[in-house]
Amino acid sequence: MNILFLGDIVGKIGRRGVGLLLPRIREEFNVDLVVANVENAASGFGITENVIKELRDYGIDVFTSGNHIWDKKEGIPLLEACENLLRPANYPLDVPGKGFIIFSHFDKKVGIINIQGRIFMEPIENPFYVVKNIVEEMRKYTKIILVDVHAEATSEKIAMGYFLDGLVTAVVGTHTHVQTADERILPGGTGYITDLGMCGAYDSILGVEKEAVLKKFLLQIPQKFTVPEKGLFKMEGVIIEVDEENGKTKNIIRLQRRGEI
Ligand SMILES: [Fe+2]
Ligand SMILES: [Fe+2]
Repeated sequence: MNILFLGDIVGKIGRRGVGLLLPRIREEFNVDLVVANVENAASGFGITENVIKELRDYGIDVFTSGNHIWDKKEGIPLLEACENLLRPANYPLDVPGKGFIIFSHFDKKVGIINIQGRIFMEPIENPFYVVKNIVEEMRKYTKIILVDVHAEATSEKIAMGYFLDGLVTAVVGTHTHVQTADERILPGGTGYITDLGMCGAYDSILGVEKEAVLKKFLLQIPQKFTVPEKGLFKMEGVIIEVDEENGKTKNIIRLQRRGEI
């Protein structure tokens, strides 16, 4: 089984870029299942119903997210209504939505878990203890398990990789929007990358119009962030080749594609 896992999709240019390149990648790598982080999919901030519908139409099967999923109030009810949409599992129990699912792909069950780091981020529940409990329970049903660790600090993500090594198929990082070149298979057979990167505007600062971000750094006062609508875009993620017998990663290929809209 080949799984494509895409980094944070940022705004319309990111969405359309994915729509444009996905068919080719699907064919090239014989992709069975597509997972993508959508925390910035609606104009860089959160989600809307139309955005999720558009991405589903492109062929994305499961959506993960992170700290920005709360940015659009209208998107929050979708966390309950949309079965394949996740938010980090280590938010307090009363927060809407769920942090994991078991997705059925024909006769195969694929567990997907979304977890969030705490370094330079909200001090939510300890992701290590939360993910451990979910993985233990999930392994009763399937050995094919993917974990999106949405975190800022590389150390926290690498620690999560080793923590789950041998227990899950792959641990992939999101949130920084900058792809790391450290894809590997850990000693226990878990595929790993510190950050998948992003799907969004190439000539930007993390997907956002660079002028406003620069002004923020210079003036230190709030600025309105927008996402470029047109131009060069990039689409980044990994292809995970899964050994369906034991749930381990056979191969992990880092993907970095560009195009223009
Ligand atoms: Fe993001
Ligand atoms: Fe984030």
